[in-house]
Amino acid sequence: MVARTTDVRLAIDGGTPVRAAPWPAYDNGDAYVADDDVAAALHALRSRRYFRYDTRPHEATETGALEAALCRYFGAAHALGCASGTTALALGLLALDLPAASDVICPAFTFAATPSAIILAGHRPVLVECDDDLQLDPDDLRRKVAAGARAIVVVHMRGFAADMPAIAGIADEFGVPIVEDAVPALGVRLHGRPLGTWGRVGAFSTQSDKALNTGEGGFVLTDDATVYSRAVVYSGAYESRMARHFTDPPDLDDLSLPLFSWRMDEIRAALARAQLARLPGRLAAHRRNYDRVAAALDGRPDVAVRRPVAPGAYLGEALLLRLPDTAAACWFARALRAEGIGVRAFGDPDDVNVRAFWNWRFLFPDRAAVRAAYPASTAAVGRTVDIPLSANLTGDDCAQLVDAVDKVAAALPGRYR
Ligand SMILES: Cc1ncc(COP(=O)(O)O)c(C=O)c1O
Repeated sequence: MVARTTDVRLAIDGGTPVRAAPWPAYDNGDAYVADDDVAAALHALRSRRYFRYDTRPHEATETGALEAALCRYFGAAHALGCASGTTALALGLLALDLPAASDVICPAFTFAATPSAIILAGHRPVLVECDDDLQLDPDDLRRKVAAGARAIVVVHMRGFAADMPAIAGIADEFGVPIVEDAVPALGVRLHGRPLGTWGRVGAFSTQSDKALNTGEGGFVLTDDATVYSRAVVYSGAYESRMARHFTDPPDLDDLSLPLFSWRMDEIRAALARAQLARLPGRLAAHRRNYDRVAAALDGRPDVAVRRPVAPGAYLGEALLLRLPDTAAACWFARALRAEGIGVRAFGDPDDVNVRAFWNWRFLFPDRAAVRAAYPASTAAVGRTVDIPLSANLTGDDCAQLVDAVDKVAAALPGRYR
């Protein structure tokens, strides 16, 4: 147990910070790694076979075995390892075989990789407004699907499930497919069903701050054999290697599609498979930390914890707090950082965040115009602060986070204007 601070003077005003140690996060070396993971990666290294397609039977390769394990874990018919979450999304979209330059919907609140993947697949991102809880606004979604969008990319942003039954209702009404960007929500369930298995395709990442961490990497899930076979070919299963993925291979000319070489390699696959075996423990740790902190912070007037669409429909790897407005959120994040908590305000102009859509100059050269075009999302994203919650947080870490939020929240009124 660490001593709890009694200094009520804020650290930004010269007081003693609640916490001196760095806040655990993947970019300062925090990782959920066990000896088994290291042994699995070393075994793959020592095998001298790093390429997924070789003379071994498919199921004897690390990547083939990982894909089989992912199918079992998610209850999906097909899984395909690939190079990243972005390429998983692009593979899913490419495999849908939409007309070139189709309008494809994604939420205004997402990581810049989501619209980037839509562009990579040769389509045009169309943003949909978000509500106060940073969830897709169903009315705006319906309007934009009715206007001719050909697919919907749903994002389970910061590990919180999107409202899949409502979104699937709209998608079905207009006959458009859903691709799930489940990158931030690996292992989360909604109404008992894993995220990433609700849409035609689910896309995941195994980059370092995801629930499976192989440095970089990703995978695609689908029950659709045609979509799967096309994704396999795009990913780089050339010269009949596509057939290794099927007992009964579909009729697809593997040179009728371009080859992008977005394959997963054997070392990452070995690491991911070892971690998949320990995923339930990691998910439980996230849930324990998140629930402890969220319960302690519940009910504050000016600092609201993001609400899930259903009980338990979140990963717990990120705590999102809603402040009265952008100025409050920016001040709050600065004050909380001074107390030793790793926190960012999405809307802080001095800390440019790729999750704020108005910063996506590759899509929106005019920042003011895009903010005006999406007023609800501008306000909702702007007043939110984001705190990563490592699976390795201790009870003391959680208590310090609650103390720091309490301390800064008590000083909030009148401080930020
Ligand atoms: C919502 C979302 N989609 C896609 C990605 C891209 O994943 P990757 O970095 O593996 O390409 C990320 C990365 O964090 C993400 O948060």
